[in-house]
Amino acid sequence: MANVNIDWDNLSFAYQPVSKRYVANYKDGKWGKGALTEDATVTLNECAGILQYCQEVFEGLKAYKTKDGRVVTFRPDLNAERMIDSAKRLEMPPVSKEMFLEAVDQVVAANVDWIPPYESGGSLYLRPYLFATGPVIGVKPSDEYQFRLFATPVGSYFKNGIKPITICVSDFDRAAPHGTGHIKAGLNYAMSLHAYMTAHSNGFDENMFLDPATRTYVEETGGANFLFVTKDGTIVTPKSDSILPSITRRSLVHIAETLGYKVEQRPVKLAELTDFAECGLCGTAAVICPVGKVVDHGKEIAFPSGMKEMGPVLTKLYETLRGIQLGTAEAPAGWIREIK
Ligand code: PLP
Ligand code: COI
Repeated sequence: MANVNIDWDNLSFAYQPVSKRYVANYKDGKWGKGALTEDATVTLNECAGILQYCQEVFEGLKAYKTKDGRVVTFRPDLNAERMIDSAKRLEMPPVSKEMFLEAVDQVVAANVDWIPPYESGGSLYLRPYLFATGPVIGVKPSDEYQFRLFATPVGSYFKNGIKPITICVSDFDRAAPHGTGHIKAGLNYAMSLHAYMTAHSNGFDENMFLDPATRTYVEETGGANFLFVTKDGTIVTPKSDSILPSITRRSLVHIAETLGYKVEQRPVKLAELTDFAECGLCGTAAVICPVGKVVDHGKEIAFPSGMKEMGPVLTKLYETLRGIQLGTAEAPAGWIREIK
């Protein structure tokens, strides 16, 4: 038993080190064997590719304790596939799906005592990441890399849990046309920090980023995709080449279709927002976070679902997804990976 002293009911989305993490190194054209370590520090050469030219990609997924006491992860195979796509785009050697899943299984199994209990609503957030360790001074890919996966217990991403938030239309873009918006690379998040701090200092919880080419279509926020519900109950989610293909969004689309909702995945105009009854952000960290209001340079778009609670359609999707993740609803085949 690890010495775990945590107030499970008051967890926020913050880092705290747990017992073990996974490390593997890439050198001489191949990945070495990975292993667990207790060392939470990384020592790097001053000229490492990550420090000079930002060669890094990452993932985010969660492990849960189910109501009947099992330990599970949600669709980790899709995180493995997305990390392979991200690595290729940044000219990095991808970690195989097998190695990725082995790292997930080993880290979860080694830190079982750090997984929040079912009743707390929390989870063990897993952060796999891959970065350039070899020195590079001319602009080119590094020859050496490290893959790590650490875990940290988390509660809600937004401080008020699932209370509706207010967001603003950003004046900044998070991605470029034909750029890297569709991959999970740290550089996209560095790009978004100034926009995030600007939104916060103006009293908003998050940004709504627009498409970088025309600034007329809705893209996503800094860490989640959008879901909208029309007044007649159709679910609409933006389709774009410069947003992250969210695993939560793809799962919710499947759940919605199974529940009998009509779903449209298509470009969504900023001008359409007034047609929607509900709006939410979806992602691993956020799960579904309702948006009560979007402010576009002084013009307020208040969704009929209001500022008090999540609207009825998003609530139905949220409860079904949480039920699948926490083992109280039946999961589609292959969605849940049990850790023994
Ligand atoms: N969009 C961005 C920019 C993100 O960082 C995330 C988080 O991973 C998401 C969307 C949601 O993706 P997922 O549901 O796979 O966590
Ligand atoms: C996630 O949802 O896992 C994310 O990575 C979003 C954010 C914390 C960057």
